[in-house]
Amino acid sequence: MKFASKRFCAFILMGLLFLIFGCGETETNVPSTKLIASMVTSSADSTTHSHSITIPFIDISASPVSDIFQYRSVASNSHSHVVAITKQQMIDINNGMKLALTSSTSDSGIAHTHVWDIQGGSLLYEKNCYNCHTNDKRGHTPMNVSFNSSQTSSVINPGNAPLSNSASTTPDPNYSPSANVVLDGATLYNANCFTCHLELASSTKPNRTYAQIKNAISGNIGGMYSLGTLSDAQIQAIANALVK
Ligand code: HEC
Ligand code: HEC
Repeated sequence: MKFASKRFCAFILMGLLFLIFGCGETETNVPSTKLIASMVTSSADSTTHSHSITIPFIDISASPVSDIFQYRSVASNSHSHVVAITKQQMIDINNGMKLALTSSTSDSGIAHTHVWDIQGGSLLYEKNCYNCHTNDKRGHTPMNVSFNSSQTSSVINPGNAPLSNSASTTPDPNYSPSANVVLDGATLYNANCFTCHLELASSTKPNRTYAQIKNAISGNIGGMYSLGTLSDAQIQAIANALVK
């Protein structure tokens, strides 16, 4: 009897090991929902709450140097804040640097700000690795990407990257897109593109990139100017949904 229960224990243990380490066929762990943005959480202030902002994976290469990317945080303690990132700071993040930013003051309640420590290496991981590996390969050597040495070392160790010292900008406290912006590409496509470009599965615009859609909107191609209310993050979500 004793012998049998020992064998039984060993059997359970092996089962657990398989569960934890898998059977060695593949380490990839494809997520059920693809990430299209990074979520960054602020440090907690004296009232011990924090907020998060969502930074979408957008291609900013064509945007003018004067562009400022603003994000309103998710509300917590019944208020929210705005964070502003200059194009140069975006480039620094994309090079793996760390960024320390102070938000606008709270939009209601006791006035205060929060500090956001944005780690470019973590964002690079989320953009380039997460959708194949979830969090499994954080801290590992990059693959499938043409990173320079600073990007490579910051993906391996985001906290060790140099701090960006590019000039900061003041967030516009009235900048509005709220925390509840819809970022589901298929829903957004149905609401905004379906009437002219057929349903998503048979869209006449498959594989269009963020830049192509943005240009069509700002160039008023086919009367698309009315879609100017879509945020960059929403356009990126639509572009992701159009990948065939
Ligand atoms: C298109 C999917 C895909 C992307 C994107 C991707 N990987 Fe992988 N990766 C794989 C597959 C498949 C394997 C092989 C099976 C395994 O080991 O999980 C692998 C293996 C690895 C391994 C272990 C084997 C080795 O060669 O060292 C590491 C480490 C790794 N990936 C890190 C990364 C990092 C970091 C990134 C982001 C820069 C990344 N990968 C992006 C699919 C991907
Ligand atoms: C009012 C009708 C209308 C709506 C709504 C509309 N489009 Fe268009 N779009 C057009 C027309 C007309 C053209 C120019 C002819 C063409 O290329 O099909 C065009 C052109 C484009 C182009 C540039 C040409 C190309 O093929 O790359 C893209 C990209 C595009 N649309 C994507 C979209 C997406 C994505 C949406 C939803 C966010 C959308 N459109 C909503 C009518 C519309």
